[in-house]
Amino acid sequence: MTSTTSVHEQTALVGAPQPFLRLLEFDCDDTDQHLDSIGHIRDGRLTGIIVRRVYDAEFMASVTVRLERHDPPFLKTPFPKKFRSWFYGHNLNLMDTDPKSYFRHAGAFHDQMDELFPAERGINQHLMRVLSRLDGGRRYCAAPGPEVGQNYMLTTFRGHAEGGYIPAHCDNEQSVRPAYEHLNTLVSDHMYSVVLMIGAADDGGDLEIFDHRIEPSEASDDQSSNTGANAGKIDLSQLSSAKIPLRPGDLIVVDSGRYLHHVTPIQGPKTRWVACSFMAHSLDRNAVYCWG
Ligand SMILES: [Fe+2]
Repeated sequence: MTSTTSVHEQTALVGAPQPFLRLLEFDCDDTDQHLDSIGHIRDGRLTGIIVRRVYDAEFMASVTVRLERHDPPFLKTPFPKKFRSWFYGHNLNLMDTDPKSYFRHAGAFHDQMDELFPAERGINQHLMRVLSRLDGGRRYCAAPGPEVGQNYMLTTFRGHAEGGYIPAHCDNEQSVRPAYEHLNTLVSDHMYSVVLMIGAADDGGDLEIFDHRIEPSEASDDQSSNTGANAGKIDLSQLSSAKIPLRPGDLIVVDSGRYLHHVTPIQGPKTRWVACSFMAHSLDRNAVYCWG
């Protein structure tokens, strides 16, 4: 594996009042200059990587139009009601005790996802290729399910309506939930995530990251909530934070497993649309498995 990233030369330390978040930002055309950067997220030297113009903004606008009219007719599942948000596809955190129907829906979801993008430009092709290149060529793919031929949903599309938000949490809190029982046998306990901005809100809807970490070994969850209630007890006003500015077509790979984060309330009538996948390296370290 060739190292081409000098972390401290090319990154910015951001956050206020105290800078804490080490961020690398570059254009998608320059991906080949950062071939080991996702490894730096795993080893803690980087917190986030913004890749600009993974898709062009006009194409993202056309995808937004189709998502707005629910075309293709993805399975639609809700966030908890107060979040004023929904998924196209099925978020693994909210999977109840019916894995059979989850995996049945996953096949249809992947077909519809491919139909939303031109051939070879889809999330499972172009976006996964970009991530693979940023990770020394490791294969990025949907996590395999418990039975032959089954796959977890590679991502979900998330719509956040006016007033919608996601409360503060660390993604590592998710891994102790029953829905992760099988996945935990395949992957490392440190997950991170990728967010592709498809359609931004008029205002608000910012991903904001806080200077507070929960290590994988410290993860626990309050089962009365789907939102990381432990993290919800933390006084955010006492923490430094950084808002991540994403434009349609940009993606961020972020250490959302360790770092506390939330999505600020959407302001204005325009729905915020993103595709969001969680990921972790397989236990043999040769692949990175993704799920929505
Ligand atoms: Fe998260």
